[in-house]
Amino acid sequence: MASNSDLLARRNQAVARGVANMHNIYAERAENAEVWDVEGRRFIDFAGGIGVLNTGHRHPRVMAAVQAQMERFTHTCFQVMPYEPYVALAERLNALAPGQGPNKTLFLTTGSEAVENAVKIARSYTGRSAIIAFNGGYHGRTMMTLGLTGKVVPYKAGFGPFPAEIFHAPFPVEVHGITVEQSLAALHNIFKCDVEANRVAAIIVEPVQGEGGFYVAPFDFLRKLRALCDEHGILLIADEVQAGAARTGKMFAIEHSGVVPDLITLAKSIAGGFPISAVVGRADVMDSVGPGGLGGTYAGSPLGCAAALAVLDVFEEEGILQRSLKLGEHLLKRLGDMAARNPCIGDVRGLGAMVAMELFRDDKGQRVPDPDLAKKLVGLAAQRGLILLSCGMYGNTIRILVPITGSDEIVDEGLDIIQGCLDTLTAAQPDRPAASLKG
Ligand SMILES: Cc1ncc(COP(=O)(O)O)c(C=O)c1O
Repeated sequence: MASNSDLLARRNQAVARGVANMHNIYAERAENAEVWDVEGRRFIDFAGGIGVLNTGHRHPRVMAAVQAQMERFTHTCFQVMPYEPYVALAERLNALAPGQGPNKTLFLTTGSEAVENAVKIARSYTGRSAIIAFNGGYHGRTMMTLGLTGKVVPYKAGFGPFPAEIFHAPFPVEVHGITVEQSLAALHNIFKCDVEANRVAAIIVEPVQGEGGFYVAPFDFLRKLRALCDEHGILLIADEVQAGAARTGKMFAIEHSGVVPDLITLAKSIAGGFPISAVVGRADVMDSVGPGGLGGTYAGSPLGCAAALAVLDVFEEEGILQRSLKLGEHLLKRLGDMAARNPCIGDVRGLGAMVAMELFRDDKGQRVPDPDLAKKLVGLAAQRGLILLSCGMYGNTIRILVPITGSDEIVDEGLDIIQGCLDTLTAAQPDRPAASLKG
């Protein structure tokens, strides 16, 4: 088999430069929370293909469901010849979504497509055009979702102009001194300076920012957003592409706040590694689009539906929501212990098993984000057998997206690698002063 360096050379010749690789480690096979590369090395997977594998690589129930579906048929296109798994999955998600219902569901293929369609539906229902999103938010790589995304480099730079009438407000992030009141004041400012409230179709928010840095939206903020939307006839869209599907210990992260959004976007871990995404929402809102206005050739593919139905079974049968909460507590405890030993860890946070730590350095008495340390940590961890991901507005956050089904032993083995790497990296800079945990 080709080595990692052979494959890197071929990749550099054949693949567009704009698709970055976090690691030059080529996957060969994977099982639950472990991956082996083409050279036979084993890695613990704390990335889950960016939050896609809450039920682990190749969960036996998911594999069996997809194999059984493959024996029947793999594609008809739901708009041409519909099939039962699509309807069954919609029924289950409608029943799981927060609120009294009735709900309806649309399936697509990627998270970006789900967000695009949520915007289409919101515009169709309200007859309004403007959308408000948040700084640091990430909603995808298509033109509309890039417009909604609140970070320029590397996502948006060079790709504009983006669709008109998208506005951004600061996301409340306590550790960086942005309060709920400041975020709300900025929203009112948008209504005053940029667009009248009655022309806003929707506010889109991640209940826990994913790429933006695993910042948990304060529940009070989400409730106030709901009230603001109700006051002005604006729809509230919860983008749960990364935070949904049990990652936070609930099926939908927004459930923690008690807020009922009008539309929810889902993708990633709803199907354990098979591409499918969804918009779930109020039936009257979803049905505002006439027949033919929504869909896609591969949207809601039979394989994706079969996988997602199996994932929902696994959530129930294996108590994944409870396990997510327990895993989250353990991750917070272990990272908190590391923060006590390693002053470079300035913040440890999370909701359920959606947990992260943020790295800082001291600059003349000022605590500043340390993306360089985050990069070194990700690199060294890989050398020691752990696949880690950084994220965040400042690139200084390490996020943990280990499969919720990963065993306690494997999770601890991965955490031990993080601790060892931090000890190595920070010992190399003994003058690194303590960072305050307060911000
Ligand atoms: C919150 C959120 N929304 C949307 C997307 C886009 O999903 P996809 O990459 O499947 O298009 C992502 C991807 O990371 C995401 O985290």
